[in-house]
Amino acid sequence: MANTKHYTELGLTNTRDIFKKAMAGGYAIPAYNFNNMEQLQGIIIGCVESKSPVILQVSGSARKYADPTFLPYMAMGAVQMVKALGAGIPITLHLDHGNTFELAKSCIDSGFSSVMLDGSHHPFEENAALTRQVVDYAHEREVTVEGELGVLAGVEDEVSHEVSHYTKPEEVEAFVEKTSVDSLAISIGTSHGAHKFKVKPGEEVPPLRFDILEEIEKRVPGFPIVLHGASSIEPEYVKMINAYGGKMDDAVGIPAEQLRRAAQSAVCKINIDSDGRLAMTAMIRKVFAENPAEFDPRKYLGSARDELIKMVKYKNEKVLGSANKA
Ligand code: G3H
Ligand code: 13P
Ligand code: ZN
Repeated sequence: MANTKHYTELGLTNTRDIFKKAMAGGYAIPAYNFNNMEQLQGIIIGCVESKSPVILQVSGSARKYADPTFLPYMAMGAVQMVKALGAGIPITLHLDHGNTFELAKSCIDSGFSSVMLDGSHHPFEENAALTRQVVDYAHEREVTVEGELGVLAGVEDEVSHEVSHYTKPEEVEAFVEKTSVDSLAISIGTSHGAHKFKVKPGEEVPPLRFDILEEIEKRVPGFPIVLHGASSIEPEYVKMINAYGGKMDDAVGIPAEQLRRAAQSAVCKINIDSDGRLAMTAMIRKVFAENPAEFDPRKYLGSARDELIKMVKYKNEKVLGSANKA
């Protein structure tokens, strides 16, 4: 295949060592989604400035958007920029919510160092078989694999789920054993997107099911767990978006306190996409509202990138605990 590369040629790392350290240190590695240059630079600079390891992740549709051939070079550019800044943070390039063997293989062949096979919408045996097929291919190439058991409410890439089906702790051991996955995404009440819960004004959001997480930790001690749908939907950004002409009613996410608690447990990877989107959108709306004549993309995308840097540093320092762990 043309353009085949191993991730080590790009200067990337798989998740094995960073998860081991996160587990021992009681923090979580941030996994930020990106699909364009400003997002990628915002994430990278935020992680360099807070000295945090980072997982750069792209969904299948984000990869299509950025172009599958172009994408590994974006990650390579990020690695080179980090070097030029004199920093040495570990960087993983990860496929988020891969849904077929072919997609996972194509990512591995083009330089990804980690892939997710999300077979959570399949029955257990099918999910395990598909995940195992990806693991076999990936492990031969030292690429790490994330699986998923349980279904999150909201949208898991192109698959939509109205309700969440919590992970059944009794299935976890068998799944890990059958598939040899390196980490497992679980469903304990988080969900994707900006509207995670339906709550009335003044009402608290329902707490995550830490009892399920604890039961899973007992069954697979020391095994890296992943939380998807973990944006807090920072109220500051929702307010800014609404104040500058946007319309984001009833947007609500996972409180930082609950993510801090999760990060101290076996949760080694916390996925954040929506908060980054909100930070950039809020700033772009502000710049346009305050400067209606502005038409230089560097002015609004540059401000959006600066806001994302701030948000990434805050998450790493105050929520995930990954700052100064690179
Ligand atoms: O979990 C899904 C991620 O937020 C990616 O979203 O499919 O719109 O790129 P996307
Ligand atoms: P959020 O929508 O909560 O940011 O979740 C992102 C995610 O889980 C990506 O896989
Ligand atoms: Zn997800």
